[in-house]
Amino acid sequence: MAEGAVFDAQAVTDAVAEGIAKIENASSMEELKAIKTQYAGAESAMTQASKAIGALPKDQKKDAGKIMGKLRADFGRAYGTKEQQVKAEEEARALAAETVDMTLPVNRKPLGARHPLPKLMEDVEDFFISMGWQISDGPEVETEWYDFDALNFGPDHPARQMQDTFYVKGNQAKDAAGFVGSNMVLRTQTSSDQVRGLLTRGVPLYIACPGRVFRTDELDATHTPVFHQVEALAVDKHLTMADLKGVLDKLAVAMFGPEAKTRLRPSYFPFTEPSAELDLWFPDKKGGAGWLEWGGCGMVNPNVLKSAGLDPEVYTGFAFGVGVERTLLLRHDINDMHDLVEGDVRFSEQFVMGE
Ligand code: DAH
Repeated sequence: MAEGAVFDAQAVTDAVAEGIAKIENASSMEELKAIKTQYAGAESAMTQASKAIGALPKDQKKDAGKIMGKLRADFGRAYGTKEQQVKAEEEARALAAETVDMTLPVNRKPLGARHPLPKLMEDVEDFFISMGWQISDGPEVETEWYDFDALNFGPDHPARQMQDTFYVKGNQAKDAAGFVGSNMVLRTQTSSDQVRGLLTRGVPLYIACPGRVFRTDELDATHTPVFHQVEALAVDKHLTMADLKGVLDKLAVAMFGPEAKTRLRPSYFPFTEPSAELDLWFPDKKGGAGWLEWGGCGMVNPNVLKSAGLDPEVYTGFAFGVGVERTLLLRHDINDMHDLVEGDVRFSEQFVMGE
Protein backbone atom coordinates (compact mmCIF):
# COMPACT_ATOMS: atom_id res chain seq x y z
CA MET A 1 0.00 0.00 0.00
CA ALA A 2 1.49 3.27 -1.09
CA GLU A 3 2.25 6.27 1.14
CA GLY A 4 -0.92 8.16 2.07
CA ALA A 5 -3.12 5.24 0.87
CA VAL A 6 -6.68 5.00 2.09
CA PHE A 7 -7.79 2.33 4.55
CA ASP A 8 -9.18 -0.63 2.61
CA ALA A 9 -10.58 -3.24 5.00
CA GLN A 10 -11.19 -5.85 2.33
CA ALA A 11 -7.72 -5.56 0.82
CA VAL A 12 -5.91 -5.89 4.15
CA THR A 13 -8.15 -8.79 5.24
CA ASP A 14 -7.34 -10.59 1.97
CA ALA A 15 -3.64 -9.90 2.38
CA VAL A 16 -3.60 -11.28 5.92
CA ALA A 17 -5.59 -14.36 4.83
CA GLU A 18 -3.02 -14.98 2.13
CA GLY A 19 -0.24 -14.63 4.72
CA ILE A 20 -1.92 -17.07 7.10
CA ALA A 21 -2.32 -19.59 4.27
CA LYS A 22 1.38 -19.34 3.52
CA ILE A 23 2.21 -19.75 7.22
CA GLU A 24 0.27 -22.98 7.25
CA ASN A 25 2.26 -24.36 4.33
CA ALA A 26 5.66 -23.28 5.67
CA SER A 27 8.10 -25.97 6.78
CA SER A 28 11.16 -24.08 8.07
CA MET A 29 11.93 -21.15 10.33
CA GLU A 30 13.62 -19.44 7.42
CA GLU A 31 10.45 -19.58 5.38
CA LEU A 32 8.36 -18.43 8.36
CA LYS A 33 10.53 -15.39 8.98
CA ALA A 34 10.31 -14.36 5.33
CA ILE A 35 6.50 -14.59 5.49
CA LYS A 36 6.49 -12.49 8.65
CA THR A 37 8.53 -9.77 6.97
CA GLN A 38 6.29 -9.82 3.91
CA TYR A 39 2.91 -9.78 5.72
CA ALA A 40 3.63 -8.05 9.02
CA GLY A 41 6.83 -6.07 8.33
CA ALA A 42 7.19 -2.31 7.76
CA GLU A 43 6.21 -2.55 4.08
CA SER A 44 3.32 -4.99 4.58
CA ALA A 45 -0.35 -4.28 3.82
CA MET A 46 -1.09 -4.79 7.54
CA THR A 47 1.33 -2.10 8.72
CA GLN A 48 0.37 0.30 5.97
CA ALA A 49 -3.34 -0.16 6.79
CA SER A 50 -2.68 0.59 10.48
CA LYS A 51 -0.94 3.79 9.48
CA ALA A 52 -3.86 4.74 7.18
CA ILE A 53 -6.28 4.62 10.13
CA GLY A 54 -4.95 7.98 11.26
CA ALA A 55 -6.34 9.66 8.14
CA LEU A 56 -9.85 8.21 8.53
CA PRO A 57 -12.79 10.29 9.74
CA LYS A 58 -13.20 9.99 13.48
CA ASP A 59 -16.35 7.82 13.39
CA GLN A 60 -14.65 5.17 11.23
CA LYS A 61 -11.46 4.94 13.24
CA LYS A 62 -12.87 2.67 15.94
CA ASP A 63 -14.16 -0.01 13.56
CA ALA A 64 -11.00 0.08 11.51
CA GLY A 65 -8.98 -0.33 14.71
CA LYS A 66 -11.03 -3.37 15.70
CA ILE A 67 -10.54 -4.96 12.28
CA MET A 68 -6.80 -4.40 12.47
CA GLY A 69 -6.63 -5.77 16.02
CA LYS A 70 -8.36 -8.97 14.96
CA LEU A 71 -6.19 -9.36 11.84
CA ARG A 72 -3.04 -8.86 13.88
CA ALA A 73 -4.19 -11.39 16.49
CA ASP A 74 -5.15 -13.97 13.83
CA PHE A 75 -1.83 -13.56 12.07
CA GLY A 76 0.09 -13.72 15.33
CA ARG A 77 -1.69 -16.84 16.52
CA ALA A 78 -1.16 -18.66 13.22
CA TYR A 79 2.48 -17.65 13.28
CA GLY A 80 3.02 -18.72 16.91
CA THR A 81 1.42 -22.14 16.42
CA LYS A 82 3.42 -22.85 13.27
CA GLU A 83 6.64 -21.56 14.83
CA GLN A 84 6.37 -24.05 17.69
CA GLN A 85 5.67 -26.87 15.29
CA VAL A 86 8.54 -26.04 12.94
CA LYS A 87 11.00 -25.62 15.82
CA ALA A 88 10.04 -29.00 17.23
CA GLU A 89 10.47 -30.61 13.82
CA GLU A 90 13.83 -28.97 13.30
CA GLU A 91 15.02 -30.13 16.70
CA ALA A 92 13.91 -33.67 15.99
CA ARG A 93 15.75 -33.61 12.65
CA ALA A 94 18.94 -32.33 14.34
CA LEU A 95 18.75 -35.00 17.03
CA ALA A 96 18.30 -37.71 14.43
CA ALA A 97 21.29 -36.39 12.46
CA GLU A 98 23.51 -36.30 15.55
CA THR A 99 22.66 -39.75 16.75
CA VAL A 100 25.80 -41.75 17.51
CA ASP A 101 25.76 -45.44 16.89
CA MET A 102 27.65 -46.86 19.84
CA THR A 103 27.87 -50.23 18.19
CA LEU A 104 29.93 -49.03 15.19
CA PRO A 105 33.62 -50.08 15.24
CA VAL A 106 35.97 -47.23 16.26
CA ASN A 107 39.10 -46.12 14.43
CA ARG A 108 41.80 -47.86 16.42
CA LYS A 109 44.78 -46.79 14.29
CA PRO A 110 47.59 -46.11 16.80
CA LEU A 111 49.21 -42.69 16.49
CA GLY A 112 52.77 -43.71 17.29
CA ALA A 113 55.28 -41.56 19.16
CA ARG A 114 58.49 -39.83 18.25
CA HIS A 115 61.67 -41.56 19.38
CA PRO A 116 63.38 -39.62 22.19
CA LEU A 117 66.80 -39.80 20.53
CA PRO A 118 66.25 -37.37 17.61
CA LYS A 119 64.39 -35.11 20.04
CA LEU A 120 67.44 -35.06 22.31
CA MET A 121 69.72 -34.40 19.31
CA GLU A 122 67.59 -31.35 18.54
CA ASP A 123 67.77 -30.16 22.14
CA VAL A 124 71.56 -30.42 22.03
CA GLU A 125 71.63 -28.51 18.73
CA ASP A 126 69.42 -25.83 20.26
CA PHE A 127 71.88 -25.50 23.13
CA PHE A 128 74.77 -24.75 20.77
CA ILE A 129 72.72 -22.54 18.48
CA SER A 130 71.66 -20.48 21.51
CA MET A 131 75.37 -19.76 22.11
CA GLY A 132 75.84 -18.71 18.49
CA TRP A 133 77.70 -21.87 17.41
CA GLN A 134 77.25 -23.48 14.01
CA ILE A 135 75.93 -26.99 13.47
CA SER A 136 78.08 -29.11 11.18
CA ASP A 137 76.83 -32.25 9.48
CA GLY A 138 79.75 -34.34 8.26
CA PRO A 139 79.61 -37.52 6.16
CA GLU A 140 79.11 -40.91 7.79
CA VAL A 141 81.30 -42.66 5.21
CA GLU A 142 84.54 -40.87 5.86
CA THR A 143 88.18 -41.06 4.82
CA GLU A 144 90.52 -42.64 7.28
CA TRP A 145 92.45 -39.42 7.04
CA TYR A 146 89.70 -37.30 8.67
CA ASP A 147 88.67 -40.01 11.11
CA PHE A 148 92.21 -40.82 12.29
CA ASP A 149 95.29 -39.27 10.64
CA ALA A 150 94.23 -35.65 10.88
CA LEU A 151 93.29 -36.26 14.50
CA ASN A 152 96.82 -37.40 15.36
CA PHE A 153 96.08 -41.12 15.60
CA GLY A 154 99.37 -42.84 14.79
CA PRO A 155 99.36 -45.50 12.06
CA ASP A 156 99.44 -48.22 14.72
CA HIS A 157 96.78 -46.83 17.03
CA PRO A 158 94.59 -49.72 18.25
CA ALA A 159 91.35 -47.94 17.32
CA ARG A 160 92.25 -48.40 13.67
CA GLN A 161 92.22 -52.17 13.96
CA MET A 162 89.45 -54.07 12.30
CA GLN A 163 87.76 -54.90 15.61
CA ASP A 164 86.79 -51.28 16.14
CA THR A 165 86.37 -49.81 12.71
CA PHE A 166 84.11 -50.73 9.82
CA TYR A 167 86.24 -50.41 6.66
CA VAL A 168 84.30 -49.75 3.50
CA LYS A 169 84.97 -52.05 0.54
CA GLY A 170 86.38 -50.41 -2.56
CA ASN A 171 88.46 -48.10 -0.40
CA GLN A 172 91.27 -45.92 -1.75
CA ALA A 173 88.68 -43.34 -2.66
CA LYS A 174 89.14 -39.73 -3.47
CA ASP A 175 87.24 -37.57 -1.05
CA ALA A 176 85.70 -34.15 -1.42
CA ALA A 177 88.88 -32.40 -0.31
CA GLY A 178 90.84 -34.34 -2.91
CA PHE A 179 92.73 -36.78 -0.71
CA VAL A 180 93.53 -39.73 -2.91
CA GLY A 181 94.53 -43.03 -1.41
CA SER A 182 92.92 -42.70 1.98
CA ASN A 183 90.85 -45.72 3.01
CA MET A 184 87.16 -45.15 3.49
CA VAL A 185 85.63 -46.04 6.86
CA LEU A 186 82.31 -45.65 8.59
CA ARG A 187 83.29 -42.85 10.92
CA THR A 188 84.00 -44.10 14.42
CA GLN A 189 83.57 -40.69 16.02
CA THR A 190 82.10 -37.30 15.17
CA SER A 191 85.55 -35.88 15.94
CA SER A 192 86.09 -36.67 12.24
CA ASP A 193 84.33 -33.42 11.49
CA GLN A 194 86.89 -31.32 13.39
CA VAL A 195 89.51 -30.87 10.67
CA ARG A 196 86.86 -30.75 7.93
CA GLY A 197 85.26 -27.88 9.85
CA LEU A 198 88.58 -26.10 10.24
CA LEU A 199 89.46 -26.51 6.55
CA THR A 200 86.08 -25.50 5.16
CA ARG A 201 84.90 -22.90 7.66
CA GLY A 202 88.16 -21.34 8.83
CA VAL A 203 88.80 -19.63 12.18
CA PRO A 204 87.51 -18.46 14.57
CA LEU A 205 85.45 -21.64 14.62
CA TYR A 206 82.66 -22.69 16.96
CA ILE A 207 80.92 -25.84 15.72
CA ALA A 208 78.90 -28.70 17.09
CA CYS A 209 78.73 -31.91 15.09
CA PRO A 210 75.86 -34.18 16.09
CA GLY A 211 75.61 -37.42 14.19
CA ARG A 212 75.71 -41.16 13.79
CA VAL A 213 78.91 -43.12 14.38
CA PHE A 214 79.80 -46.78 13.89
CA ARG A 215 81.93 -49.33 15.70
CA THR A 216 82.20 -53.08 15.40
CA ASP A 217 80.59 -53.69 18.79
CA GLU A 218 77.95 -56.31 19.52
CA LEU A 219 74.59 -54.99 20.66
CA ASP A 220 74.30 -55.54 24.39
CA ALA A 221 72.95 -53.68 27.43
CA THR A 222 75.52 -50.89 27.13
CA HIS A 223 76.79 -51.06 23.51
CA THR A 224 75.37 -50.72 20.05
CA PRO A 225 77.33 -50.78 16.76
CA VAL A 226 75.49 -47.68 15.55
CA PHE A 227 75.15 -44.82 17.97
CA HIS A 228 75.20 -41.04 18.17
CA GLN A 229 77.69 -38.52 19.41
CA VAL A 230 77.83 -34.78 19.62
CA GLU A 231 81.23 -33.27 19.06
CA ALA A 232 82.00 -29.69 20.02
CA LEU A 233 84.99 -27.78 18.71
CA ALA A 234 86.01 -24.21 19.38
CA VAL A 235 89.18 -22.74 17.86
CA ASP A 236 90.06 -19.12 18.42
CA LYS A 237 92.76 -16.94 19.94
CA HIS A 238 93.12 -17.10 23.74
CA LEU A 239 90.80 -20.05 24.44
CA THR A 240 91.65 -21.91 27.64
CA MET A 241 90.44 -24.92 29.59
CA ALA A 242 88.29 -22.54 31.66
CA ASP A 243 86.24 -21.87 28.52
CA LEU A 244 85.89 -25.62 28.00
CA LYS A 245 84.73 -26.15 31.59
CA GLY A 246 82.23 -23.29 31.31
CA VAL A 247 80.58 -24.75 28.20
CA LEU A 248 80.51 -28.25 29.72
CA ASP A 249 78.77 -27.04 32.88
CA LYS A 250 76.23 -25.10 30.84
CA LEU A 251 75.53 -28.16 28.67
CA ALA A 252 75.14 -30.33 31.79
CA VAL A 253 72.60 -27.87 33.20
CA ALA A 254 70.72 -27.73 29.88
CA MET A 255 70.52 -31.52 29.73
CA PHE A 256 70.22 -32.52 33.40
CA GLY A 257 68.74 -29.58 35.30
CA PRO A 258 69.99 -26.57 37.27
CA GLU A 259 72.04 -28.50 39.84
CA ALA A 260 74.01 -30.57 37.32
CA LYS A 261 77.78 -30.14 37.20
CA THR A 262 80.84 -31.66 35.54
CA ARG A 263 84.34 -32.61 36.57
CA LEU A 264 87.43 -33.51 34.55
CA ARG A 265 89.81 -36.42 35.14
CA PRO A 266 93.19 -36.54 33.36
CA SER A 267 93.13 -38.92 30.41
CA TYR A 268 94.51 -39.39 26.92
CA PHE A 269 93.11 -38.78 23.46
CA PRO A 270 95.42 -38.37 20.46
CA PHE A 271 93.68 -35.20 19.29
CA THR A 272 93.69 -33.30 22.59
CA GLU A 273 96.51 -32.25 24.89
CA PRO A 274 95.85 -32.08 27.76
CA SER A 275 92.95 -34.54 27.60
CA ALA A 276 90.35 -35.37 30.21
CA GLU A 277 87.52 -37.75 30.90
CA LEU A 278 84.34 -35.82 31.44
CA ASP A 279 82.23 -36.84 34.43
CA LEU A 280 78.74 -35.67 35.21
CA TRP A 281 76.81 -35.28 38.43
CA PHE A 282 73.13 -34.52 38.71
CA PRO A 283 70.51 -35.16 41.38
CA ASP A 284 68.55 -38.09 40.00
CA LYS A 285 65.23 -39.30 41.42
CA LYS A 286 67.04 -41.30 44.08
CA GLY A 287 68.77 -38.15 45.34
CA GLY A 288 72.14 -38.11 43.61
CA ALA A 289 73.52 -40.63 41.21
CA GLY A 290 77.17 -40.04 42.02
CA TRP A 291 79.71 -39.13 39.34
CA LEU A 292 79.01 -40.75 35.99
CA GLU A 293 81.22 -40.96 32.91
CA TRP A 294 79.74 -38.78 30.19
CA GLY A 295 82.38 -38.20 27.49
CA GLY A 296 85.85 -36.98 26.64
CA CYS A 297 87.38 -33.57 26.18
CA GLY A 298 90.55 -31.53 26.09
CA MET A 299 92.53 -28.74 24.47
CA VAL A 300 92.99 -29.30 20.75
CA ASN A 301 96.35 -30.96 20.09
CA PRO A 302 98.71 -28.64 18.16
CA ASN A 303 99.16 -31.42 15.58
CA VAL A 304 95.43 -31.24 14.76
CA LEU A 305 95.67 -27.50 14.27
CA LYS A 306 98.67 -28.09 12.00
CA SER A 307 96.64 -30.63 9.97
CA ALA A 308 94.31 -27.76 9.17
CA GLY A 309 97.20 -25.44 8.34
CA LEU A 310 96.86 -23.32 11.49
CA ASP A 311 99.66 -21.96 13.64
CA PRO A 312 99.28 -23.45 17.15
CA GLU A 313 101.26 -20.51 18.53
CA VAL A 314 98.43 -18.20 17.47
CA TYR A 315 95.34 -20.36 17.81
CA THR A 316 94.18 -22.62 20.60
CA GLY A 317 91.03 -24.64 20.88
CA PHE A 318 89.01 -26.97 23.01
CA ALA A 319 86.92 -29.96 22.04
CA PHE A 320 84.64 -32.46 23.65
CA GLY A 321 82.45 -35.34 22.64
CA VAL A 322 79.52 -36.93 24.41
CA GLY A 323 77.42 -39.95 23.53
CA VAL A 324 73.79 -39.11 22.89
CA GLU A 325 72.50 -42.59 23.81
CA ARG A 326 74.52 -42.39 27.00
CA THR A 327 72.99 -38.99 27.79
CA LEU A 328 69.51 -40.41 27.28
CA LEU A 329 70.22 -43.53 29.37
CA LEU A 330 71.58 -41.44 32.23
CA ARG A 331 68.90 -38.79 32.09
CA HIS A 332 66.00 -41.22 32.19
CA ASP A 333 67.61 -44.01 34.18
CA ILE A 334 67.22 -46.50 31.33
CA ASN A 335 69.21 -49.64 32.01
CA ASP A 336 69.24 -51.43 28.70
CA MET A 337 70.47 -50.17 25.33
CA HIS A 338 68.06 -52.62 23.65
CA ASP A 339 65.20 -50.33 24.68
CA LEU A 340 66.73 -47.52 22.62
CA VAL A 341 67.29 -49.47 19.43
CA GLU A 342 64.38 -51.89 19.23
CA GLY A 343 61.84 -49.32 18.09
CA ASP A 344 59.01 -50.48 20.38
CA VAL A 345 56.42 -47.69 20.32
CA ARG A 346 55.55 -48.36 23.96
CA PHE A 347 59.05 -47.17 24.86
CA SER A 348 58.80 -43.97 22.80
CA GLU A 349 55.34 -43.17 24.10
CA GLN A 350 56.78 -42.56 27.58
CA PHE A 351 58.66 -39.55 26.26
CA VAL A 352 55.89 -37.84 24.35
CA MET A 353 54.90 -35.64 27.28
CA GLY A 354 56.78 -32.35 27.47
CA GLU A 355 57.86 -32.29 23.83
N1 DAH B 1 85.92 -38.95 19.96
C1 DAH B 1 86.01 -39.47 21.31
C2 DAH B 1 85.36 -40.84 21.35
O1 DAH B 1 84.64 -41.19 20.48
C3 DAH B 1 85.30 -38.54 22.26
C4 DAH B 1 86.08 -37.30 22.46
C5 DAH B 1 87.11 -37.26 23.39
C6 DAH B 1 85.85 -36.19 21.70
C7 DAH B 1 87.85 -36.13 23.60
C8 DAH B 1 86.60 -35.04 21.87
C9 DAH B 1 87.59 -35.02 22.84
O2 DAH B 1 86.42 -33.93 21.17
O3 DAH B 1 88.33 -33.89 23.00
O4 DAH B 1 85.61 -41.54 22.28
